[in-house]
Amino acid sequence: MRVLLQWLLFFVATTFTTETMGAPNKTPKLSPIDPRLRDLNIDNLATVSSDLETFFYNQTLDHFNYKPESYTTFPQRYVINSKWWGGAHNNAPIFAYLGAEGAIDGDIKILGFLPENAPRFKALIVYIEHRFYGQSNPVGSMEKSVKNKNLRGYFNSAQALADYAEVLEHLKKKLHAHNSPIIVMGGSYGGMLASWFRLKYPHIALGALASSAPILYFDNITPEDGYYSVVTNDFREVSENCYTTIRKSWDEIEKVASKPNGLAILSQKFKTCSPLKDPVDLTNFLDSTYASAAQYNAPPKYPTTQICQGIDRASKTIDILDRVYAGIVAYQNKPCYNMTQQVSETSIGWQWQTCSEMVMPIGITSKVSMFPSSPYDLQEFINNCKKLYGVTPRAHWATTYYGGHDIRLVLSKFASNIIFSNGLRDPYSSAGVLEDISDSILAVKTTNGSHCLDILSSKEGDPEWLVKQRQEEVQIIKRWFGKYYHSLRVLKQ
Ligand SMILES: *[C@@H]1O[C@H](CO)[C@@H](O)[C@H](O)[C@H]1NC(C)=O
Ligand SMILES: *[C@@H]1O[C@H](CO)[C@@H](O)[C@H](O)[C@H]1NC(C)=O
Ligand SMILES: *[C@@H]1O[C@H](CO)[C@@H](O)[C@H](O)[C@H]1NC(C)=O
Repeated sequence: MRVLLQWLLFFVATTFTTETMGAPNKTPKLSPIDPRLRDLNIDNLATVSSDLETFFYNQTLDHFNYKPESYTTFPQRYVINSKWWGGAHNNAPIFAYLGAEGAIDGDIKILGFLPENAPRFKALIVYIEHRFYGQSNPVGSMEKSVKNKNLRGYFNSAQALADYAEVLEHLKKKLHAHNSPIIVMGGSYGGMLASWFRLKYPHIALGALASSAPILYFDNITPEDGYYSVVTNDFREVSENCYTTIRKSWDEIEKVASKPNGLAILSQKFKTCSPLKDPVDLTNFLDSTYASAAQYNAPPKYPTTQICQGIDRASKTIDILDRVYAGIVAYQNKPCYNMTQQVSETSIGWQWQTCSEMVMPIGITSKVSMFPSSPYDLQEFINNCKKLYGVTPRAHWATTYYGGHDIRLVLSKFASNIIFSNGLRDPYSSAGVLEDISDSILAVKTTNGSHCLDILSSKEGDPEWLVKQRQEEVQIIKRWFGKYYHSLRVLKQ
């Protein structure tokens, strides 16, 4: 039971509670910004912009069946900003942000790409919340939903894409905007959804901007060590000493923990908010701190640099753990460090999604890893999910339904109009599409970028490479529109 609880608590973190990685909580967080840094108290979208209007669409619970319960409906939230829209009579475009594993409110607040570029394209913006999250839950509670065997079966990506299709068709009808081209956009899991939406619903979306979408992390297309090797490289690039110190610290933690008063020593050294009950709580905390620092390694602060500067400055200190702690303080100076991971709607919902179809085998196998070896164990993962939900994860379903194997060969033959954007310092970029596939399936990547940086709000002082990445994406979308409006004119003549 203790272990079971741990999976729940540590779901969003990346942990190695055992020698192997097989717990459903082992998929690192997938979100445009570090959920721990997100302002969770956004009740009122009007404080973000008075131009936002909230609507609810009467959504069908089950798009793929005709059983009586399939016809059940639930209110799905979508939010519109029509301030810059050029109108249906001009066939002005629609930017559709596809929500991911959380309430839509937080995303609306942080996304810059849509409102910053809507004026130049005279685009309407719509943000659609993912089913089961936020205010789009059929029974009003994520906890209740995932416990309900009949209901949670409808909580999957295929149903979510069908929701988006219905909402967008509904919106076009409502606005009489039949010929308005739609570009779908998303980040992380939402980025995967955006790219898959373009492949599954080309008649609804003209193109997709898929930011930091690890669509190749399924079914062992990407080596399991991909994620953590990028984390390791990020730290090693900043400082060899930093990398070595962290690498050595795990054994040291184990050594101290095995002393009679070891946990008390560790609690004191790492200023934990409450006394440590298990050294794993500390290693989990450190692991997820390093992983997040790498994933959200954004300018101007660059968290990995902050941590390494802390460690390097303390390098005269003999004690390895004091040095590691100095790194944590340099990154986040807090009165105490809370080693208990927060359980959130996102952690509960995503755990179900990973235990059903979003099976991403992430492990640690490299001999030069900054982290202790922790190979992915599919069998253990399956057993854990069975204990949690009584179901066997469909580890191959994502590639069966969406593809991914031989992606160049496959997509170059039939697909078009997808931007896969990545920052190569983002550990999830290891499973991103990093090379152009055709003249309209394009990889727009930056060497020093991190997770979803391109779609976040631009800032004064953004580095030139980031400004360029965003401009490049705008130019590509402009070309898609150019061709689309040309075809429209030709066909309507
Ligand atoms: C939603 O649609 C269903 C089925 O068409 C209908 O029975 C129900 O009244 C609708 N609910 C709302 C709030 O419009
Ligand atoms: C630590 O985090 C947990 C989970 O979010 C929370 O319940 C607890 O109150 C926090 N403790 C402190 C001392 O902040
Ligand atoms: C990336 O960052 C490194 C280290 O800060 C720097 O040396 C390098 O020039 C940067 N690369 C690009 C392409 O900006």
